[in-house]
Amino acid sequence: MEKRDLLYTGKAKSVYTTDDADHVVILYRNDTSAFDGKRIEQLERKGMVNNKFNAFIMDKLGAAGIPVHHEKLLSDTESLVKKLTMIPVECVVRNFAAGSLVRRLGVEEGRELNPPTFELFLKNDALGDPMVNEYHVRSFGWATDAQLARMKELSFKVNDVLKQLFDAGNMLLVDFKLEFGLFHGEIVLGDEFSPDGCRLWDKDTRNKLDKDRFRQGLGGVVEAYEEVSHRLGVKLD
Ligand code: TMP
Ligand code: ASP
Repeated sequence: MEKRDLLYTGKAKSVYTTDDADHVVILYRNDTSAFDGKRIEQLERKGMVNNKFNAFIMDKLGAAGIPVHHEKLLSDTESLVKKLTMIPVECVVRNFAAGSLVRRLGVEEGRELNPPTFELFLKNDALGDPMVNEYHVRSFGWATDAQLARMKELSFKVNDVLKQLFDAGNMLLVDFKLEFGLFHGEIVLGDEFSPDGCRLWDKDTRNKLDKDRFRQGLGGVVEAYEEVSHRLGVKLD
């Protein structure tokens, strides 16, 4: 597979075409963004850690029967993935209250959500990724009923698989964001799964081990990602 032209530059990753129309290469950069791109910093090693972390998680999800775009690691910071037509909606599953849910509803951070809850956000930085509902998704044609149902089903399946995985590393999977796309008509999990797009707390101390360390200026961001990787057995070098 030959890497060719830059197709798209996101806040933390770049996408390149290949000599095969069905595949693209994702390059994980060290850029770390928060608040819809209003704050961006370079964090040494983060691209490598997220690339390898994501490959590990995607392999676990694939083995559990979830269709994923990830094919294989190409280098420390690059992966080969299926080229999806992305659905411009973010799917968020929450097991504990945190972040925007706490701000929106005034509930206590850390309150367990039983059953877990599901939310949709429009992927639009200029609008601050506003929350949308299932009717918006249908009315604006972002996804069909069947596609939306499949995205929801797969989001909860990912939650079941990953809750257990992180629990074995003495961590709570507080919440996470997924992005899906279409590959030859099928809904497939795209984007990435890394501590950039989820919340992970140590089970005993409730220390934050995810991008909230960056958002809240707590420091030790990449060190926390490496700690999570170590607990799960992700090989980083
Ligand atoms: P929130 O509490 O800010 O709504 O975020 C919920 C989870 O989804 C949290 O783990 C961060 C993740 N997320 C992103 O990674 N990118 C986004 O654009 C949004 C809205 C959420
Ligand atoms: N990923 C989004 C951004 O970079 C939201 C966030 O993580 O705060 O702005």
